[in-house]
Amino acid sequence: MQFNFLISKCMSVNENGMTILNGTPQRNPCLDELITTMGDASAKAQNLKQVITSPSRFYQTDQKLYIKSEGKQCLGILKIGKKNLFHRDLSGLVREIQPLCVLDFYVHESVQRRGIGKELFEEMLRCETIMPEKLAYDRPSPKLLGFLKKHYHLSNYISQNNNFVIFSQYFENRQQNSNQKLASQTSYYQTIVTPSKMEQLGSLMQQMTISSTKSKNQTQQQIKSQAPWATDQKSQSNMYQTTTGLMSAQIQKKI
Ligand code: ACO
Repeated sequence: MQFNFLISKCMSVNENGMTILNGTPQRNPCLDELITTMGDASAKAQNLKQVITSPSRFYQTDQKLYIKSEGKQCLGILKIGKKNLFHRDLSGLVREIQPLCVLDFYVHESVQRRGIGKELFEEMLRCETIMPEKLAYDRPSPKLLGFLKKHYHLSNYISQNNNFVIFSQYFENRQQNSNQKLASQTSYYQTIVTPSKMEQLGSLMQQMTISSTKSKNQTQQQIKSQAPWATDQKSQSNMYQTTTGLMSAQIQKKI
């Protein structure tokens, strides 16, 4: 994507053409234009009705944006952030997890399939010190699924209502830890719920939503709109911990 300014003039770019922005960069009009244009192009490429990456959806969040550029050209973007998710396995058990997620990933059409996506992705893996299978993927497109299969042999997952993809390898090496945790306590971070109790949890969530204070209403509406129960970590943390704490207490009481 061609801009009429040198990209290194509006943000710092390393020798590999990479930039890493967190949600609190020094704003300037060029940077806003770049984020807006790339976010729009990404949404268009994925046929999304709603843009995932824009200045207002990025600034003041705990998300990170990886950007690959060359002179006046922006070649691609990759946005990540943590979410609270509920994941249901084949036996119906539901786990509550808080993975780092790939939220938006876009390489300009003119340079796709030339390794730019892999370069961006590898930079992110290196900086976040994480393996691809330990990430969650928000509504991955067929191209992203192909990318993950080709480069990282990831293909096995159970479809979820919330459209996040978590590969089966995500849960490997965690079994022992989670068994130990479960034996000792019901954890905030990995609560296991039997399917028959899901309805109870749903109504508990609703009750808590209704009885919460006005100031929390906006946050809760966001939770509802990201059905079912995929939430931003930062913006939800206070309310979320209260809710989860209550849930854990109620689960222990009722289940
Ligand atoms: N059709 C099918 N597979 C593709 C395509 C395509 N048009 N483009 C890339 N891939 C996959 C293939 O596995 C390909 O390997 P191959 O060429 O041997 O078949 C591999 O990706 C190529 O790897 P890279 O060159 O490193 O990837 P690229 O630079 O093309 O970036 C990306 C991959 C980001 C998915 C890019 O294709 C793109 O921007 N697509 C459009 C937007 C999109 O779908 N983004 C993901 C949205 S989901 C989310 O963000 C959570």
